[in-house]
Amino acid sequence: MERILSGIKPTGQLTLGNYIGALRHFKDFQDNGEVFIFIADLHALTLPIDPEVLRSNSRDIAAFYLASGLDPKKATIFLQSSVPAHSELNAIVQNYLYMGELSRMTQFKDKSAKMNDKEIGLGLFAYPVLMAADILLYDANTVPVGEDQLQHIELARDLVHRFNYKYGEVLVMPKGKVNKVGARIMSLSDPTKKMSKSDPKGDIFLKDDMKTIRKKIMSAVTDMEGLVYYDPVNKPGISNLLTIYAALNDISIEDAAKQFEGCTRYGDFKKAVADTVERELGPFKARYEEIIASGEYLEVLKEGAKKANEIASTTLKRVQKAVGLLVLE
Ligand code: AMP
Ligand code: TRP
Repeated sequence: MERILSGIKPTGQLTLGNYIGALRHFKDFQDNGEVFIFIADLHALTLPIDPEVLRSNSRDIAAFYLASGLDPKKATIFLQSSVPAHSELNAIVQNYLYMGELSRMTQFKDKSAKMNDKEIGLGLFAYPVLMAADILLYDANTVPVGEDQLQHIELARDLVHRFNYKYGEVLVMPKGKVNKVGARIMSLSDPTKKMSKSDPKGDIFLKDDMKTIRKKIMSAVTDMEGLVYYDPVNKPGISNLLTIYAALNDISIEDAAKQFEGCTRYGDFKKAVADTVERELGPFKARYEEIIASGEYLEVLKEGAKKANEIASTTLKRVQKAVGLLVLE
C-alpha cells in the first residue's frame, strides 16, 4: 500500500499558503494509503524560537490537522520529537550527504543570507538531512508538499541512490508531490514574494478573523489594467488571486479565468475571491476552535506517537544493521 508522509514546522502562524499548498491535501490520501502526518518541531529549532511560542504553535498545528479533515483512525498524526528514531536516523544518514550540496539549498541560502555568520546554527545547514530522515523512516513513497520543499526531497532521493548503491535495497525511494494549482501562493502585499508566515499585511494567517482576512484580500496589490487574466510575470497580483480562487474551488486556472472574462472591476473579482476563501476557511476555523478548546488533539498525538514509533524503530534497525552497527535484539 502507498505510504504518504508530510509535515509542517511550528515556526509561526500558519498561512493560506500552507493551507492551499499542503494542509488541505493531506486528507485526500487517507482512504487509499497509509498516511503519516507530523509536526516538525525539531525543525522549528533551526531558527531562534521562544519555548512557549513553539509549544503553542505545535498545539495549533495538531488542531489544524484535525480541522482539515484528517481522521486519526485512518492517519497517524504525531510530533517529530515524540519519535527518537528521527534523531537517530539523522545521525546515520548525515554521513551520506555532503557539505557542497547542502550549501546549495535555496532555503538555506535565503535564510542564512539574512543572518550574521555567528548566528547560523548547524541545524539550519543540516535541515535537509533531518528532513530526509523523517521521510525515509516511514518508507514513504509520496511526500505532498509545496513547491519550495521539492529541492529537499530531491536531496533525499540522491541520498537513497547513494545509500542503496552501497548497501543494497535498504531505503525506499520517495517522490515529492506538488499540486498543479497552488503549489506556491504569493504574498498579497508583494505578489513577487512567497507567502511565508512573516508578513502580517501580505500573509493571510489561518488564525486571522474572517473580517481581517477579507480586508487583506480586498487590499491585495494588483495592477492598473483592469482586466482579470492569468499572467504571473506581468500580473502577479491578479494571477495569485486567480490561483487562490481556482485552488479552493478545485478548478483549473483556465476555468477560473473564464469565469471573470469581461470583469473590469477588480473590487468585484476580489469580493468573489474573498467569498471563496470565507466559504472554505469559515467552517475550518470553527472546527479548529472546537478542537483546540477540547484538547482532544493531545490523545491523538499520544496514540500517533505509539504507532509512529513502532514503524520508525523497525526501519531504524534495518538501517543500523545495513551500515554495520551491532544491533542487539
Ligand atoms: P512550512 O511552513 O515551511 O513548514 O511549510 C509547510 C508546507 O506548506 C510545505 O509543504 C510548504 O511547501 C507549504 N507551503 C509553505 N508556504 C507555501 C506557499 N506560500 N504556497 C504553497 N505552499 C506553501
Ligand atoms: N521542511 C518542511 C517545510 O519547511 C517541513 C518538513 C520537515 C517536511 N520534514 C518533512 C515536509 C518531511 C515533508 C516531509 O515545509
